[in-house]
Order: sequence, then C-alpha cells, then structure tokens
Amino acid sequence: MEQALKYVSRQMDAFVSQLETFLRIPSVSTDANYRRDVLRGAEWLRNELLRIGIREASLVDTPGHPIIFGKHGSDPSKPTVLCYGHYDVQPPEPYELWNSPPFEPTRRNGKLYARGSSDDKGQLFMQLKAVEAFMNTKGGMPVNLKFLFEGEEEVGSTNLANFVANHKDLLAADVVLVCDTALFAPDVPSITSALRGLAYVEVSFTGPSRDLHSGVYGGAVENPANALAKLIAGLHDEKHRIAIEGFYDDVKPLTEEEREEYAALPFDEADWKESIGIERTSTEAGYTVLECTTVRPTLDVNGFWSGYQGEGAKTVLPARATAKISTRLVPDQNMDDIVDKMRAHFQKHTPPTMKLDFRVLHGGSPIVVDTSSPAMRAASDAMEAVMGKKPVLTKEGGSIPVVADFKNILGLDTILMGFGLYTDSIHSPNEHFGLDRFEKGIRSLIHFFAYFGRLAGKSV
Ligand code: BES
Ligand code: MN
Ligand code: MN
Repeated sequence: MEQALKYVSRQMDAFVSQLETFLRIPSVSTDANYRRDVLRGAEWLRNELLRIGIREASLVDTPGHPIIFGKHGSDPSKPTVLCYGHYDVQPPEPYELWNSPPFEPTRRNGKLYARGSSDDKGQLFMQLKAVEAFMNTKGGMPVNLKFLFEGEEEVGSTNLANFVANHKDLLAADVVLVCDTALFAPDVPSITSALRGLAYVEVSFTGPSRDLHSGVYGGAVENPANALAKLIAGLHDEKHRIAIEGFYDDVKPLTEEEREEYAALPFDEADWKESIGIERTSTEAGYTVLECTTVRPTLDVNGFWSGYQGEGAKTVLPARATAKISTRLVPDQNMDDIVDKMRAHFQKHTPPTMKLDFRVLHGGSPIVVDTSSPAMRAASDAMEAVMGKKPVLTKEGGSIPVVADFKNILGLDTILMGFGLYTDSIHSPNEHFGLDRFEKGIRSLIHFFAYFGRLAGKSV
C-alpha cells in the first residue's frame, strides 16, 4: 500500500491532466446532439481501463448510451468489489454564467472547473487512479475488481437497471463501491448511509385547439397556464406538506435517536443560506432544514412553460401548458405507487375545460445501506487514515437510482464514499472539484482496497 500511495504523490500532475482530457469530452446524456460525444466518452474510458492493465473491458450497447463492463482477477481468497460510476454529465447551459467554458477544464485556486469535474467524472476517475497505483507498483490488486460505468445516470439509468437484472452472475460481488456523493463539509469525512428515491413526471394541460388572441377570446376560454398554475399551487398545503392523497402513507417516521444524531452534525444554517443567496428557508412544519433536504420527501416543479417565452410582450392565450414535476422519496415509499398517486391527484384536479397528459420520465427507489458490514468498516478506517478523523454517517437528499437495484436485484450493499462538496455547483454553472479532494479520494480508495482485501485474510 505504501508504494501505491507514493506513486500517487509522484503522479498527481499526470492524473489531473488525464482527467482534463476526460472532461473535454462533452458527454451530455440527455441531449441527442451529443450522442457521438457520449460514445467517445465511453470509448475513452474503456481505453483508460485497458491502459491501466484491466484487460477485460468492453462496451455494451444499449438502446441508449453504452455501458462499460470490466473485470480484473478472480482469486477466490479475495473479496470482489464492483466499482460503479457514471461518465455522462448534465447539460452545461446556461453558458453565459460560466467563468470558463464548461468543456475546457480550467484550474483556478486549487480547483478544477468543468462540467463533470465533481459529478461524476472526477470521482469515477479516482477509482481508476487508485487501481492504477496498485497495478503499476504491485502488479496486482488486494481485491478482485469489476467495473460498471454507465452513460445514463443523469437520465434515470433505465437501461442499466435492465442490464443489472439480466446479468446477475456477471455482476456477482461482495460489495459495490460508488464515488458519486458529497462530504458533509471539507474537513468532515463522511460516508453516505442513505439516498432518496425519485419519481419524475411531466404533465400538460391542453385547452383550445390553437393559441388564441387573448383579447378576442380571453374571458370565456380557460387558460391552460392559469389552470396548471392553480393545480401546482395546490400541491403543497400551508404546512408545506405534499397535498397528494396517500403521499405519506409509507413514510417511516424518524426516530428520536435518528433526529438527535442528525441534529449533532456540524451544520451552519446561516452559512448555508448565504451560500445559495436566500434569507429565509421554507421547510415542512416540524422538521429541520437538514431533515427536509435529506430524509423527508419533497415535491418540486423543475420546469414550467406555456405561451410566449421570447423578448417583449405577445398577447396570447396559449393552447397548452406543461410542467416537469419531481418528488424525492424516502423509505418505505415506492416509486410506482407514488406515480399512481400523482396520476390520480392530477386526474381528480383536472378541470373539465382541460385535457390532461401525464407522462412518467424516470424514477428510482430510496435506499438505506448496511452500515455494519466489513466493507463499511474498511471504508471508515480508510477515510480516517487519510483525513485524520472518523467519518460520520450522513444521509443524502440526492438520488442514484441504480443503488437500489444493486440491493433489490443483486442483493448487494453499496459503499457510498464520495468526495464532492455541496458547494461544487454540480448541475450548475461553474461546477468544480477541489484537487485536494481528488487526491484524498484516491488515497482513501487505496486504503479501502488494501483494508478490505486484508479483512478477507489476504494482503498485497
Ligand atoms: N451524483 C448525483 C447524486 C448526488 C448528488 C448524490 C449530490 C449526493 C449528493 C447524481 O448524479 C444525480 O444527480 N442524480 C440525479 C438522479 C437522476 C435520476 C437524474 C438526482 O439526484 O437528481
Ligand atoms: Mn452523479
Ligand atoms: Mn448528477
């Protein structure tokens, strides 16, 4: 392990340059214009696996973007770690708010700015570099490895879920390792113990058969934008609870212990508000900010449009209005059940003047991971060795849908060991990753592989 760690010290510059090459590929999964770039990202990543000595690495075609599967070692005396990550990124828009172009990685103040630097190319790359450090110093790994990288995490991982269901034997492992979450704070090592699920839908109201002159027809024709706005306004009650019938039926109440543990985390609400430019929070009655952003379910409009969007004024009564609406789910809510409840709510509240279209975009189940496994101990010891403090367990408000599939389909628990920060601006302009965290991540993963391998009675 020492040699692998020294290798990292010597190679950091090279590692960052390689990551920059990866980040120059605009692998935006949601936009068909980038299709070839996503493929290029997949090919680049596969070649990287080959280059560091993972000889079995291939692209698997899907109806969407390719999956990469790789494998190294099958020593029965060693445990097997399945490394997961995603090489797709969110769209870069709005361009004008970036201080340097999103696909021209730029180093400023010890940080690397580019779309995907933190979510998730930079973090996925930590896994590869930790493996490379062993391969190039020891010629082998303390664990058997499998790699599963996808190009559709940011669009719901539907094809990956099918792949997992159809390749249970291929993916057999002892634990999954995911680096796609955040540290609680820069100096607070943390391991994520839960992720929220997601149910994402798009709803439209259509009224008249065409856009109308709002002076000639307005007054006697219901306006779809007005009607949809009214429906949306009714989705929360005055306590900021979600007003969809049965929405909370399966939500497990938080225990007092959980709430106390959570309250003890070093969270500074004033700093938090300042960091996002708000003066007042808006929380569900009876819950703290941290609880509302991580362990309570939520509903948000992600997009809402209708009528004229261009410059200046156009007098129009639009024919149609659309909203994209997501809910974040917590144990034991079920995505399909929540979608049914949303559909029923929208149907019930569609006025007779409107035609409703209701479309499911994607979703995933909430997940709580096992925190008492040997792999978890190895992860905790690894982070402690590098960051000098025992990591705390945190629950994350974001979602990584495939983690629930790993559990429900493969029976595998996941170690969610991420080195992002909430302030990395993931999904936003000026996304960045601290190069110190990139290095700490690589070092922690080296420790993790060594400790986990040793736990199973073998060391390299
Ligand atoms: N890496 C994030 C999830 C995340 C963000 C975990 C911050 C922890 C902290 C992931 O890439 C993501 O953005 N997931 C999507 C889900 C998806 C189905 C589009 C999300 O949470 O919105
Ligand atoms: Mn991610
Ligand atoms: Mn993301």
